[in-house]
Amino acid sequence: MVAASLPAALDPATAGEGRAKRGAELIKQHRFASPSGRRLQLIRVVFMSSNRQSFHRVVAIDGPAASGKSSVARELAQRLGFAHVNSGAIYRAITWHILQKGIDAGDSDRVTQTAESAEITCYLQDNEARIFIDNVDPTDYLREDRVNESVSRVSSVPRVRRIVEHKTREYARSHDVVMEGRDIGSVVFPDTPYKFYIVASREVRLRRRAAQGQRDEITMRDHADSSRLVSPLVLAKDAHVIDTSHLTIEGVVSEVVARLKEMGLKVSA
Ligand code: CDP
Repeated sequence: MVAASLPAALDPATAGEGRAKRGAELIKQHRFASPSGRRLQLIRVVFMSSNRQSFHRVVAIDGPAASGKSSVARELAQRLGFAHVNSGAIYRAITWHILQKGIDAGDSDRVTQTAESAEITCYLQDNEARIFIDNVDPTDYLREDRVNESVSRVSSVPRVRRIVEHKTREYARSHDVVMEGRDIGSVVFPDTPYKFYIVASREVRLRRRAAQGQRDEITMRDHADSSRLVSPLVLAKDAHVIDTSHLTIEGVVSEVVARLKEMGLKVSA
C-alpha cells in the first residue's frame, strides 16, 4: 500500500501556523490508494500539532513605516519583562548583506541563493534581539539609505520571508516576546490574542523619520509592503488599532497595557 501525499494542512512540514489549533489534536479521515490505484481505503491520520504547543506569549505589534512601532515595542517589552524582537531588523540585515555582496535587490534568484547560504544567527542580549550574518554584526548599517531603498524588494522574496519567519518563531519557543513587524499578527503568530496595529498620520510619520536624520521613502515602502503577494502588510481582523499621531510613547504603551489587562494578560507593571 502506498499512502497518497498528505494534504498540506496535515503535513507537519507545510502545516501553516494559522491552520492547526494550538495543542489540538487534528484527526482527519484521509484516503490512500493501493499501488494499482484500484481500491481506496480510509485511514485515520493523527497529527499532533506539536510545533504550536511550544510558543510562549506573543504580543504582536504591526503597522506601516515610522508609525512608532519600535519605540512602543521596546518600552512595552521592558514593562512586561518580555523580550523585544524587531523582525524588520532581520529583513534589513539580509538586505545589507545582499548589497554588500554587490547583488541587485531586484534579482530574486540571487537574493534567494544568498539568503539561503548566509549564516544568520539570532539571539537575545538583555532581552533585546540581536543578529549576526556570516559572523558580522550589521546593527550599525541597518538604517543606511541604501538599505531603506532596497529592503521592501528583498522582503518580498518568498524564500527570504520563510527564513525570517522561522527565525522569529524560534524566539517565541523560549521566551515571552513583544514582536514588531508587518505580518506578525496576520502570518507569523496568527493565533496570538494580543495583536496591535500601530498607525500615525503620514505627516507625523514623515516628521519622525526626518527627525531621525534618515532619507526614507516611507510612502513607497508602505505601498510595496502592502501590495506584495506574499504576507503583505494588512490589518489582522482581530487586531487593536492605535493611532499614535497625538500620543506620547508612554501614552501608547499605557493604552496597550490597559488593553492587555482587559484581555486577561497578567501584567505586574
Ligand atoms: O522601522 P520601519 O517601520 O521603518 O521598518 P522596519 O520594521 O525596520 O522594516 C523594514 C522593512 O522590512 C519593511 O519596510 C518591510 O519591507 C520589511 N518587513 C516585512 O516585510 N515584514 C516584517 N514583519 C517586518 C519588516
